[in-house]
Amino acid sequence: MDMSKIILPSIIQGGMGIAVSDWKLASAVAKHGQIGVISGTGLNSVLIRRLALGDPDMIVRQALSHFPEPTLIQNILNEYFIPGGKAPHEPFKRTPHYNLKGPLSLWQLTVAANFVEVWLAKQGHSGLIGINLLEKIQLPTLPSLYGALLAGVDLVIMGAGIPREIPKALDLLSLHQTATLKIDVDNSDPENLEFDPKAVFPNLVQSTLKRPLFFPIISSSALALNLKRKATGPIQGFIVEGPKAGGHNAPPRGKYPFNEIGEPIYGPRDLVLPEDMKELELPFYYAGSVATPEQLTELINLGAQGIQVGTLFAFAQESGIEQSIKHQALYDLVHKSPPDSYGWIYTDALSSPTGFPFKALKRPDSLSEKQNYLKRTRICDLGYLRHLHKSVDGKILYRCPAEPVEDFQKKEGTLEQTEGKKCLCNALMADVGLGQNQKWGSEGYLLTAGDDFNQIQRILKNGQYSYYAKDVIDYLLGARS
Ligand SMILES: Cc1cc2nc3c(=O)[nH]c(=O)nc-3n(C[C@H](O)[C@H](O)[C@H](O)COP(=O)(O)O)c2cc1C
Repeated sequence: MDMSKIILPSIIQGGMGIAVSDWKLASAVAKHGQIGVISGTGLNSVLIRRLALGDPDMIVRQALSHFPEPTLIQNILNEYFIPGGKAPHEPFKRTPHYNLKGPLSLWQLTVAANFVEVWLAKQGHSGLIGINLLEKIQLPTLPSLYGALLAGVDLVIMGAGIPREIPKALDLLSLHQTATLKIDVDNSDPENLEFDPKAVFPNLVQSTLKRPLFFPIISSSALALNLKRKATGPIQGFIVEGPKAGGHNAPPRGKYPFNEIGEPIYGPRDLVLPEDMKELELPFYYAGSVATPEQLTELINLGAQGIQVGTLFAFAQESGIEQSIKHQALYDLVHKSPPDSYGWIYTDALSSPTGFPFKALKRPDSLSEKQNYLKRTRICDLGYLRHLHKSVDGKILYRCPAEPVEDFQKKEGTLEQTEGKKCLCNALMADVGLGQNQKWGSEGYLLTAGDDFNQIQRILKNGQYSYYAKDVIDYLLGARS
């Protein structure tokens, strides 16, 4: 496919981690002519947990069998596949944590896991499939991209940071050449991470891969201009995401106030105007509570290519959210009032270890509620949100403010930095039915959704608490067809 000749549709289904936008959702969206995006976050754990559950429909093993390095696949199956599935009370196996050098076996697993998700999403249609990665989760980025490229991904979308180095990394990885990434160190200069595909897969013989389109997610037109001018290679479009979107939100610009319940207050400086985006002469999509047919039409008239939609797709049947959690949330949306006058959604300025505000859907039984979270014993066994810190004697430490407080303090962190922090890694795995059994019990869930959660009522048919990705697309395109 010549990527420069692609006709871009008007809806992108936003990437939603961990495994909310899995291959099933992305594929359903692409089959209906729009862009389906898988989340690349945490896929190494998603893959091995699916294998530990016995991969009952054989789908994961089928995808793995197409991976171009069969020896690796056998190693993965030997290590993680449990025929018939693990016993329900057994914990899932854990992989080592990422560091600046891999470890190698984890990089290989990560490449394979991203290959699997993209490969599955691309079966049975000729639509477009993207992968979403978070700039704040840097250590797995290059192997994740390489795996996605091996499976022929069409588009890479990256948010929650300034992904300046990704265009060049895509150019190099598509040629199987060494790519590098600067990894932030919170109190020092960045460290360099080098990923050489030929060292990770010495036996892999491959021709040049398709170089996918790259769309960074931005929340200011100045950042978009800066990326267009100063990124390490070409950018093909932008997603302009506002503060009402599900997941992480960019914090308000400058010094900002909070409301009585601690949510950040956004102001006019946080608005990105379509006329400013138009000047960049690249396609752009708006995201964040713009998912109505009326707004889609208006934004297109103002020069946008279309919209990126998360929340409405997150609760569709094909999404990865565990069916009973999804069903209960939709039932309550129809039959109950929100828990307080602030509505269903809370923008938590503290919870995410990334430091970005993170939206939570308020549910009485979820970790959105402080009293529920305080019952959890802190553990950091997935570690995606660990970041680098240089110790006083010059060592690189990997730490997360949601890890056990004493561990964080041993790594020169303070008690205040840990306050209110939540282990999103484990909670988000629980959202998609892949929660860990810890020594003290099973991990609880914590759903994220945007202010558009209410809009789902416009899609639900009378008396029903489920709908499909196609219903979302038909609803959004209705006014335009
Ligand atoms: C459940 C959920 C998880 C999300 N996870 C991610 C993510 O991992 N990476 C990302 O860039 N955006 C994430 N988002 C944001 C979406 O990709 C999308 O941009 C946003 O939801 C659009 O706004 P809307 O929710 O109003 O439709 C998430 C959104 C939701 C609802």
